[in-house]
Amino acid sequence: MSGDGKSPVITVGIIGTGRLAGYIVEGARGGATRNGRDFDFLLSPRNAEKAADLAARFGARLAADNQAVVDGADLVLLAVRPPQAEEGLKALRFRAGQIVISAIAGVTHAAVAKLVAPARVVCVMLPGRANAEGIGLSILYPKQPEAEAFLARLGPVHGFDDWPSFEVASVVGGLSGCSFHFLKHMISWFTARGLDARTAALIVAETLRGNAGVVQEHPEELDAIIAGIQTPGGVTQCGAELLAARGGLDDWNAALDAMQRHMWGAEPEKG
Ligand SMILES: NC(=O)c1ccc[n+]([C@@H]2O[C@H](COP(=O)([O-])OP(=O)(O)OC[C@H]3O[C@@H](n4cnc5c(N)ncnc54)[C@H](OP(=O)(O)O)[C@@H]3O)[C@@H](O)[C@H]2O)c1
Repeated sequence: MSGDGKSPVITVGIIGTGRLAGYIVEGARGGATRNGRDFDFLLSPRNAEKAADLAARFGARLAADNQAVVDGADLVLLAVRPPQAEEGLKALRFRAGQIVISAIAGVTHAAVAKLVAPARVVCVMLPGRANAEGIGLSILYPKQPEAEAFLARLGPVHGFDDWPSFEVASVVGGLSGCSFHFLKHMISWFTARGLDARTAALIVAETLRGNAGVVQEHPEELDAIIAGIQTPGGVTQCGAELLAARGGLDDWNAALDAMQRHMWGAEPEKG
């Protein structure tokens, strides 16, 4: 850690300066509260264009190479794509006790721990784009105070003590991605019938955001909420019955099953 004596600056080193890294730097900077600079970013230079952009817009620093990222960081965030993990990490030397946050989807805690030993590993799933706005959740395993303090800058944090639960919860990353396709599909229904694109986008997004807010406030009351909004024989029942009859809702669960298999294989692995 470094700093001015009043507010210590935590240096977050990022290996894999791509899209997710960009969302994280933007979100953490946007949520800055203490001197605007309580987290400092040190970036891998491999994607030179992206790293230069983040340096220019958010004051992140560029490291000479990946080892310089590890050496200069208090927390190291891994954000390479899954097939790049082993090749990118195996030659690096981490410090004992150093905290490594892995955002690499589908690579187990045990596998990352082996690659970065003797560092301590936290696996995290972030939705990505929403983290840039400071409203994207983080799912992490195991609970770890320093990692949680950093991730809290990007939105709500949900820590897990057991790996199988983390694996299941992490599929929310896929749900997040698919929800943009869902939004686009719904918006296009309105634009195809003559609404202007901005109005269509806003009424769909505001409807879902409002309803999500209701569920967030009353998470145990979903059945009562549905009973309260669904008039017998009314419009919602008409649509909900058609979706159920055609399997439209079950298709979403099938997609979650497929994304879980894609990330983790058939069954949850032991961490
Ligand atoms: N994007 C999201 O919203 C999101 C959300 C949740 C989780 N994730 C996870 O985050 C990770 C990154 O995803 P992304 O979408 O940000 O991918 P991305 O845009 O492709 O970023 C990955 C970056 O890592 C770089 N890289 C590859 N090998 C490297 C190495 N050895 N050393 C340093 N940098 C290296 C890549 O450079 P090259 O292009 O030159 O290979 C690329 O710039 C993935 O594991 C993904 O599962 C992403």
